[in-house]
Amino acid sequence: MIAVVPGSFDPFTNGHLDVVMRAAAMFEQVVVAVGVNNAKSYLFEASERLELVRRAVDRLPRVRVEPLSGLLVDFCATLDSPLIVKGIRGGTDADYELAMARMNEQLAGVDTIWLPASARWAHVSSTLVRQIAQLGGDVSSFVPSVVAERLSERDRR
Ligand code: PNS
Repeated sequence: MIAVVPGSFDPFTNGHLDVVMRAAAMFEQVVVAVGVNNAKSYLFEASERLELVRRAVDRLPRVRVEPLSGLLVDFCATLDSPLIVKGIRGGTDADYELAMARMNEQLAGVDTIWLPASARWAHVSSTLVRQIAQLGGDVSSFVPSVVAERLSERDRR
């Protein structure tokens, strides 16, 4: 089976990396799909989010990173035996993700499994990381080093 780990990754955090690494230990292949949620406005453009995720996972075997521009189920249809994998930090994530999981199952029969976020990263969200970074705080313990560097370059601009 191929695990598809979709998200906006604005930016990619250590919590996301943890989910990708755990999926890579369970599945033959992992495809990280860097998508667009029309309800959100982004700090990083799609191309930059894609580049940062690629750099953050480039040493992980059997993991590749692809852009996702349309429906997730259409992306999944291009793969052999896909299963969506999502990290869940708590009840708010579960409520939001449950509707998407059911929708993807009903749209195209693609199932979703959830991994509970590791306790170490359960409080880390892209939203908080963006907020801390934009106010000059140190986010280096919450994100891969390539992401921390890019956030501090943005600050200096
Ligand atoms: O990290 P996010 O913002 O929660 O990621 C959401 C994302 C990009 C995975 C989700 O919006 C998505 O799957 N987008 C692709 C378009 C799609 O299939 N939308 C219908 C979802 S039921």
